[in-house]
Parts: sequence; structure tokens; C-alpha cells
Amino acid sequence: MEEKEILRQLKTSFFQLYGEGEVRIFFAPGRVNLIGEHTDYNGGHVFPCALTIGTYAAVRLREDRRVRFSSMNLQAGEITEVSLEEAFEAKTGDWTNYPKGVFWAFEEAGHKIESGMDLLYYGNIPAGSGLSSSASLEVLTGLVLKEMLGLKEVSQQDLAVLGQKAECDFVGMKCGIMDQFASAMGKKDAAIFLETNKMEFDYLPLALEQAKIVITNSLVKHELASSEYNVRRQECEQAVRFLNKELKIQTLGQLTCEQFEEKKHLIPDEIIQKRAKHAVYENQRTIQAVEALKKKDIEAFGRLMNASHISLRDDYAVSCPEIDVLTELAWKISGVQGSRITGGGFGGCTVSIVKDEAIDTFQKEISKAYEEKYGKVPEFYIVSAGEGAHEIVND
Ligand code: GLA
Repeated sequence: MEEKEILRQLKTSFFQLYGEGEVRIFFAPGRVNLIGEHTDYNGGHVFPCALTIGTYAAVRLREDRRVRFSSMNLQAGEITEVSLEEAFEAKTGDWTNYPKGVFWAFEEAGHKIESGMDLLYYGNIPAGSGLSSSASLEVLTGLVLKEMLGLKEVSQQDLAVLGQKAECDFVGMKCGIMDQFASAMGKKDAAIFLETNKMEFDYLPLALEQAKIVITNSLVKHELASSEYNVRRQECEQAVRFLNKELKIQTLGQLTCEQFEEKKHLIPDEIIQKRAKHAVYENQRTIQAVEALKKKDIEAFGRLMNASHISLRDDYAVSCPEIDVLTELAWKISGVQGSRITGGGFGGCTVSIVKDEAIDTFQKEISKAYEEKYGKVPEFYIVSAGEGAHEIVND
């Protein structure tokens, strides 16, 4: 659905649900990560860009302290209503935990929420696709609170931090900062090279020399993601403890590959050693990939993407058979510069760099082979990097 039509439907439904009157509309995008996977909570580098799909919210303040949440993606007219106090506490296991978690994170950080509000959401990121629908919902809710309540002290970057806090400490998925950061700080036609330790970042134009970024959705929902994700995180923390018998590091991102090779014998558990190897090597690959992009060496960038996938598949064990099939098919097609799993893993999407003239073949060949094997046709999205979270005015 075109944005114009989304906005029209959002307003019509908002008025039907909550009555006619003033309304403001906000948007926060999803993201795709080009390289640097499972490095963010390891103090390493990531290289995502914001998408042009994401989550919208129509909002109006209320006179009282009630908050009403509804979503156009669910049963029409279904409303979850809570008092402000309940919004800070309740964890009922439904989708409103994401926005509620942000209300809670704002309060925890000392930003007072003194007014109730009516909210209607609509998202066009396919659910469970690993393109950060939850981060976009969190960052969006943060932006709504900042703008509707006039919280000038909250910066765009704070929206990322508060969204991450909601996800980690309210929802319980111990994620890194990448998704919320990309959603809050994205820039049109650029990817973000972010160092997650000092939170230093740079925007790089996505100049791909007659090629495009293509996302392929395996249609496998990444349901295992949060539990296995938390396990991976613990395994990396365990690796740091082993290495610190001789080293003094806080995160795996502090090590070069050579330093890791020299000290890896300190990690007695083979599986934990593999996890650590991925975190260290993937961080170095991300730095190299950005160097390659700066030199317009897209082939080198693509080779690093492929290596990233192999490492995520074999050492980090966050891929799945369907995604491996998608990448292997892509690697065989001439004109594909690189292809890998993107996001948290266990399903979701691959990201590929495909030369313009090969895009048709890419979609046809992969659809055919994937359908033959799994009985379903994957979805493709050609990416343009979009702006971070913002209000939509004067549509
Ligand atoms: C999820 C998390 C991110 C990041 C990726 C893996 O998307 O939310 O913080 O760790 O997985 O790179």
C-alpha cells in the first residue's frame, strides 16, 4: 500500500475508533543490516540502513490519564485500554508490551508522562521477518511521547536507547542497540557505520555501482529468535570470562583476529570458542567491508557478506535450512555480489547485492527453486535506504 493510502486509512480508522478531531501522525522505519551481525552486543561494529517500510502511529492526547492502544494490523476495533500507572507495569504478553515498555523506559529515565493518549498503529514490515518491526514500534512510541509531551531533552539517539531498554528489560529480549539505532537515526540513501562501544557513527552513501540491495524473505518466522538469541549473548559473555584469565577485555569486539587466535586456547568449550570466533571475525569483516565500499570495491564487499553468512551458519549457528538454501541459490547466480542472512536469525530474510541486469533472473531462479523445495514463493523487496523516525506533516 502506498504511503498516501496508508495515511488516509489510518486517519479514517482513527476517527472511527476514537472520534473526530485533531490527530498527529508519526513514522519509524524497520532496518536491514548489510554486515556486522551479532556484533552489537559484543562491542563491535554494525552497518545497517533504515528501510522505507516501518510502523505508523496516529495519536491524540487525552484530558485524563487513560491510554488506548489499537492496531490496524489486528482485528478492527480491538482496543487495549490501561491507566498510565498500568501502562508502566502491566506485562500481559501481548503486542502492547512493546509500546508499554517504552512508556516504562521513559518513566525509569525520569521523563514524566502526565497525560493519557489514544494511539492507532499500522505496520507494513512483514511480521517475524527479521526486519525490526519491534524496534520500529518502540522507536515510534518514543517519538510519540517526545513530541506529544514536548520532551525536548530527549534526543533522536535517546529514542534508540530507550527503545532498546524497553525491549531488553520490559519485553525480555536482550538485544543490542543496532535495530533501534537504525530506526531512529537512519538517513535517506545512506547506511550507518556504528561502533557500538563508544557509540560513534558515520553515514556512508549507498553507492553500489549499478547494483541494488535485495531482501529475500524466506517466510520462515523467526520464532526461536529471542530465547536462542539470549543464549548466544550469554555464550559470548562466558567467552570473555575465559579470555580474561590472561586478558583484560570488556567485550569480544576489542580483539583483532590475531589476538583471538593467540588466546583462544583459554576457552575450553568448543562451542563457546566458535561463538567467540564469529563475534571477533565478524567485527573485523565489517570494518573491512566498509573500507571496501569506500573504495567502491563492491566485489570485496560481497565476498565479506558471503563469509559473514558462512560464519553465522557454522560458528554462530543462527541460520536455518531455508535461509541456507536461499543464500546458496543466490551465490550461484552471475551478477550476485554477495548474499547472507540478515538480522537476529532463525528464519527471516537474506540480504543480497545484485547487479541491476541480474535482478530479474535472481527473482525468477530463486522463486522457482525455493518453491520446488519448500512449496512457497519467497518475497523480494528492493531496498531504498530511508529516513529515521519522524513526524509526517501536511500529507
Ligand atoms: C537482533 C537484535 C540486534 C542484533 C541482531 C543481530 O536484530 O535486535 O540488536 O543483535 O539481532 O545482529
